Amino acid sequence: MNRKQTLTLMCALLMLIGQATLVSGQKGESKTPSLYERLGGSDKIGAIFDDVGPRMAADPLLAKFFQGQSPEALTSQRNRTVEFLCHETGGPCEYTGQPLKKAHGVLHINEAQWKAFLKHLGETLDHLKIGDKEKHDMLTLVGHFKSEVVEKK
Ligand code: HEM
Repeated sequence: MNRKQTLTLMCALLMLIGQATLVSGQKGESKTPSLYERLGGSDKIGAIFDDVGPRMAADPLLAKFFQGQSPEALTSQRNRTVEFLCHETGGPCEYTGQPLKKAHGVLHINEAQWKAFLKHLGETLDHLKIGDKEKHDMLTLVGHFKSEVVEKK
């Protein structure tokens, strides 16, 4: 093999290695799916809202938050909550509602009501057969907003 042939062969080898690196790099780039994707998108978040709402409304500790709520107000709360959770779980939504502290401050939600809410949310996630990891991630995410929802003593 002469010098030219050797160089050609080396170039070909380098190109092959380059391509292989590129392909494996592309594979490596496929990032872990967001919680939004793992849950099943906005439809599933809406289904969570629709399931946990009646559980909360049927709980004597929480019923007062739903009494006298018009269907329009409920629809608006649903839309804003789905947007909020879509955004927070890594989905493609923009939240257009009020800051959580402002929306909930007037409600004076206490610790016992917060605990009751978490219990219902856990039961909803089980009922909808949300996977263990997604359930854990969702409860952790929601927990981050406790200080914006529960009234400080
Ligand atoms: C004990 C727990 C909770 C109760 C009783 C509760 C109750 C309510 C009520 C009654 C409203 C309607 C307020 C209105 O129409 O002015 C509301 C709005 C809302 N809630 Fe909650 N909530 C709770 C926890 C949470 C959590 C954990 C989140 C999110 C992580 C959340 C997100 C929202 C959003 C996004 C709105 C809409 C705000 C807006 O329209 O600007 N809530 N909530």
